[in-house]
Amino acid sequence: MQRRTAIKLAAAAGAGTILMPNQLFSNPQGASFSKSDFGEDFLWGVATSSYQIEGAANEDGRGPSIWDTFCREKGKVLNGETGDVACDFYHRYATDLELVKEMNMKAFRFSLAWSRILPEGRGKINQKGLDFYHRVIDRCVELGIEPWITIFHWDLPQALQDEGGWTNRKTVDAFAEYTNVVTKEFGEKVKNWMVLNEPMAFVAVGHMLGMHAPGDKSLKKFIAATHHATLCQAEGGRIVRANVSNANVGTTFSCSHIAMKDDDPKHEGARQRLDAFVNRLFIEPALGLGYPIDDGWKTIGKVEKHFEPGDEEKMKFDFDFIGIQNYTRIIARKAFWPPVLWANQVKPENIPGAELTEMKWEVYPEGIYKILKQFSAYKEVDKIMVTENGCAMPDKLENGRVHDARRRKFYQDYLANVLRAKKEGVNLQGYFAWTLMDNFEWAEGYHPRFGLVHVDFETQQRTIKDSGLWFKEFLK
Ligand code: FCB
Repeated sequence: MQRRTAIKLAAAAGAGTILMPNQLFSNPQGASFSKSDFGEDFLWGVATSSYQIEGAANEDGRGPSIWDTFCREKGKVLNGETGDVACDFYHRYATDLELVKEMNMKAFRFSLAWSRILPEGRGKINQKGLDFYHRVIDRCVELGIEPWITIFHWDLPQALQDEGGWTNRKTVDAFAEYTNVVTKEFGEKVKNWMVLNEPMAFVAVGHMLGMHAPGDKSLKKFIAATHHATLCQAEGGRIVRANVSNANVGTTFSCSHIAMKDDDPKHEGARQRLDAFVNRLFIEPALGLGYPIDDGWKTIGKVEKHFEPGDEEKMKFDFDFIGIQNYTRIIARKAFWPPVLWANQVKPENIPGAELTEMKWEVYPEGIYKILKQFSAYKEVDKIMVTENGCAMPDKLENGRVHDARRRKFYQDYLANVLRAKKEGVNLQGYFAWTLMDNFEWAEGYHPRFGLVHVDFETQQRTIKDSGLWFKEFLK
């Protein structure tokens, strides 16, 4: 089974249109919009993460993370690939950031590798790790690009995993220590912070499905990790706000619109269960609504076993913005045995007429509109950013060009739906494309290519794809 198909189950009507060269920069579906439709202050950027791009895994004092370990376990990552070298961003950041500028993107989202800064997860600080991120930030500023930092994008220090990782409550203290270090260090220069990247993904895929690091398949571990990640999410928010003057602090959520098979109400139970699990589990405690237990997936009720006095308060934080990360939709169907969550969904390959990406995720542009409406309906949510959206397509580098017409269409169609939500009043402040360049796509290794820039992993040669050229023109 492909990674995360179980969660991001799913592809939409009509295969991508093949464009003629003279249509290169126009929207093929006539859904014409321009940059100015989104407003002068709307922020455009690209997103990345440390383990997926940096490489230099054994350089300058970096400690191992759970992904270094996981990649070395047989059969966990496609073709046994690792992030040891990845895009070699550690050495190439200066010119890679020029590509961000060349595509007329104004913001760069990247994450800090916890074990580059605190090789043991806590305690001794590695100055060379801090220096690297100073260089990245300074280069951004030099090029007129706004740096946006994600504090945690999945690469937990292995030293903490050895003590139980996310299932151990002590990780919350280690996370607080780490967040204190980085916000004090970079808070003068960087105002935009995201605490966690997609807690649902690293908690569920890593602890229940076992398809990501640390590779556990345990409901018990999933439940414990859920609560500790929820506590970190809010605690991280408080620390950023305390240490960074004028901070703009948010956190990100993976989310997918859940439709019902054939729009038939008999699937409503399955829809609710999946919605609670996929979309509501991490945001609602932060908003002060508690875990979505009653009308959702009852199993999650077990999380209360991990509560200590005062936790209900500690789970809350009023983020300045929330980050929405959307790729696909999910279709719910009544299951024969409902508690098995995965049985409550239609497999993307079984959706008639669906266009699937290389991840076997359904292309469904309207899904981003629906999910933006859903999340903006919480009265406690203020600003929203799309912090990830993109697709992996079968790209080919030919004569120095990558004619990725399907990806270009994907962006145009999704952006039309982002604009629709914005026009209907969703307080949307910006959009980050996933991702700057082809990189290490977790358990799928280097096979799925998500970049606006093509990377030849033998030579580390970069080539801006047609989709990247479209952005460049669109954002001019
Ligand atoms: C998101 C992750 C990101 C990348 C994309 C394709 O869930 O946050 O690192 O893997 O999916």
